[in-house]
Amino acid sequence: MNTSAVFQTPPNTDTFPINGTDFIEFYVGNAKQTCLFYQHCFGFELIAYKGPETGSRDVISYVLQQGKIRFVITSALSPDHEILRHVAQHGDGVKVLALWVDNVSDAYHKAIERGAESAFEPYKAEDEHGYVMLAGIKTYGETIHTLVERSQYRGAFMPGYTERKSPVKINPLGFKYVDHCVGNVELGQMNKWVQFYEDVMGFKLLVTFDDKDISTDYTALMSKVVSNGNGYIKFPINEPADGKKKSQIEEYLDFYGGAGVQHIAIATEDIVHTVESLRNNGIEFLYVPDNYYDTVLERVGDIKEDIEDLKRMNILVDRDEEGYLLQIFTKPIQDRPTVFFEIIERHGAKSFGKGNFKALFEAIEREQALRGTL
Ligand code: FE2
Repeated sequence: MNTSAVFQTPPNTDTFPINGTDFIEFYVGNAKQTCLFYQHCFGFELIAYKGPETGSRDVISYVLQQGKIRFVITSALSPDHEILRHVAQHGDGVKVLALWVDNVSDAYHKAIERGAESAFEPYKAEDEHGYVMLAGIKTYGETIHTLVERSQYRGAFMPGYTERKSPVKINPLGFKYVDHCVGNVELGQMNKWVQFYEDVMGFKLLVTFDDKDISTDYTALMSKVVSNGNGYIKFPINEPADGKKKSQIEEYLDFYGGAGVQHIAIATEDIVHTVESLRNNGIEFLYVPDNYYDTVLERVGDIKEDIEDLKRMNILVDRDEEGYLLQIFTKPIQDRPTVFFEIIERHGAKSFGKGNFKALFEAIEREQALRGTL
């Protein structure tokens, strides 16, 4: 497929309406410390909590918010708990990409009718602040989509949680919303999962990248991006392609123990400030050589930002037919080389930074080489 003219908004064929990402839940080995990491390094506010003190005997969850983004950080207490089995297999990782829908029962049953596998059946959770409806369907690996209906709820997060505030003043870093969430799947599985989103959710294929678009001297990958009708949900799906050496996708699959979420892209409206703050807080980013900036303006034309700021922060730029975007990838945020974040600022561009793929993947390969996994 020609990748250069496919970003027109496709017709809305959603099986059920999705209003956005409701929350992203991480299963981790130590929720208390991870929760502090996201407050101090990423500028999230703690808003809710559940644990033994609130009647949740085995499972501990902290809910964090910045802009429209909600993270739930979850761990468990007993060694035989399913959550800790998940952590033992995958390391800290993303378990749930929750979707905010209008009607959970309708969405769930339509999804199941169209071939989705159930993670859990619809149920109502209720407290003095109202109720939410929840259901779950499975996607790649052990990841699930929880469907959330919350029009009748006015509490901090949802029933079962109590309101809890950050113990110190938090400095938000300008995170606005989840731009896209990327999944890595095994060789030969990309099309199956693209079809899952098309058949079950009514998503449209937005763009295809093949190994000619995404390859360096050593490694390659293929990627297809599916989107819902309003564009609030964008899921790129990657699979490894043949290269001379091991691709970053294979490295992920080896260390994650299967398919899973590779990165979450977070939108900001002042990427220089956001990245500078993250760096000051100790977050590390992939490094692109300075000579990237020698020619970047010839490639992308006029941009609002000062190129010296971008160079200082190592932020990348790309342009498509509709505008430009600025982006940068963090290094993995846990011990295993698996999940990382992208910070992205869009100025009209609806694409994913194809012009930066080579520079970015060479940066990843330098890290792989250091880990001995290239
Ligand atoms: Fe991305």
